Amino acid sequence: MTKESLLFSPLELRGVTLPNRIAVSPLCMYSATDGLAGDWLFAHLSTFARGKAGLVFTEATAVEPRGRITPACLGIWTDEQAKAIRPTVRFIEEMGCVPGMQIAHAGRKGSAEPPFRGGTPLAPDNADAWETVGPSAEPVGDGWPAPHALETGEIAQIVEDFAAAARRAAEIGFKVIEVHGAHGYLIQSFLSPLGNKRNDAYGGDIQGRMRFALEVAEAVRAAWPDDLPLFYRISAIDGPAEGWSLDDSVVLARELAARGVDVVDCSAGGIRGAPAFRANDAGKPLNKSGERPWGFQVPYADRVRQEADVKTMAVGVIVDPHQAEAILQEGRADLVALGREIMYNPFWPLHAAQALDVDPDSAMWPDQYGWAVQRRREIMAQNASALGGPKQ
Ligand SMILES: Cc1cc2nc3c(=O)[nH]c(=O)nc-3n(C[C@H](O)[C@H](O)[C@H](O)COP(=O)(O)O)c2cc1C
Repeated sequence: MTKESLLFSPLELRGVTLPNRIAVSPLCMYSATDGLAGDWLFAHLSTFARGKAGLVFTEATAVEPRGRITPACLGIWTDEQAKAIRPTVRFIEEMGCVPGMQIAHAGRKGSAEPPFRGGTPLAPDNADAWETVGPSAEPVGDGWPAPHALETGEIAQIVEDFAAAARRAAEIGFKVIEVHGAHGYLIQSFLSPLGNKRNDAYGGDIQGRMRFALEVAEAVRAAWPDDLPLFYRISAIDGPAEGWSLDDSVVLARELAARGVDVVDCSAGGIRGAPAFRANDAGKPLNKSGERPWGFQVPYADRVRQEADVKTMAVGVIVDPHQAEAILQEGRADLVALGREIMYNPFWPLHAAQALDVDPDSAMWPDQYGWAVQRRREIMAQNASALGGPKQ
């Protein structure tokens, strides 16, 4: 590393300072009971805190029971649920990291099996199934039930559920909140013309389709302390040739920023339950889904950042420390989020610091490990020839 690392520079957002610019992307674990966090959630998130990711997000946390994807999803619609996740929040902070919560409503993609059991909708006679809700009575795809089309008063209640969730998250010490407005879940199904067929104030042109997303932003901003940052995850595009576009995302991002959103988290896809589409370097969607080149969604974060004048978080196959550093150095995003890569290697930030030569004496590691890890490095250097070359 010749230049000063940006990946390992602090990032100030309102009254919060992230110690580095690596976030753990929200990762559903489908391991809660009645929305309550248990041992798995603590073990899962505390590992990333020991790995020193600057910002550790919870998975999509439902703001009301119908907002869960599966019956085993995390929730924050009761005080008891908030209390159950408190030890995790405390531990993340103890490690010097910043705890963030993603709040969500699954909409018409709820009442389903987890992906490791197929991700299909629960049968209507399953005792755990519920009637899903959406902007219109349009199923997300073949084999999915038609959701109940929300009435205006019901929309207002869900906006208030988001605000109540943010209030609870603040009370138990979360320092960042992210609204999940992506992946075909409730908010994005209102945004996209592929999900929203309404002809009232919440449908029609982009202004109507954005109404619910913006009402949630306003309500959460009002409920969430002024000195704490608000992130908003969007699906920057629906697909290569239809639906919500990157131009629409620029319009939305400007409106979100005007309502006090600090960071737009740029993901993609999901409106049909299909995988995200990739973009080329000009930010134009390509039509080959399924392929996942490095940083395939970075062009979205880049364009939104340049044109909406708002901070962005890039996500999607960011796997290499030099790649992550380059995204920030090139001004394409303000921070990066890792999902699968950090599940594979929860100590990725510590290994990245070594690869970028910003932690020569292992000082970034938790005290309990750092001295021993540093000794390991020395031992590895001593044994380099026996090991067939220098090893880190
Ligand atoms: C197991 C798993 C669970 C996920 N859960 C969520 C979630 O709760 N909320 C969300 O916005 N995205 C979720 N995602 C998407 C990730 O946050 C991330 O955007 C995606 O995996 C792309 O990043 P990656 O290539 O680093 O994995 C999930 C992804 C995986 C693999």
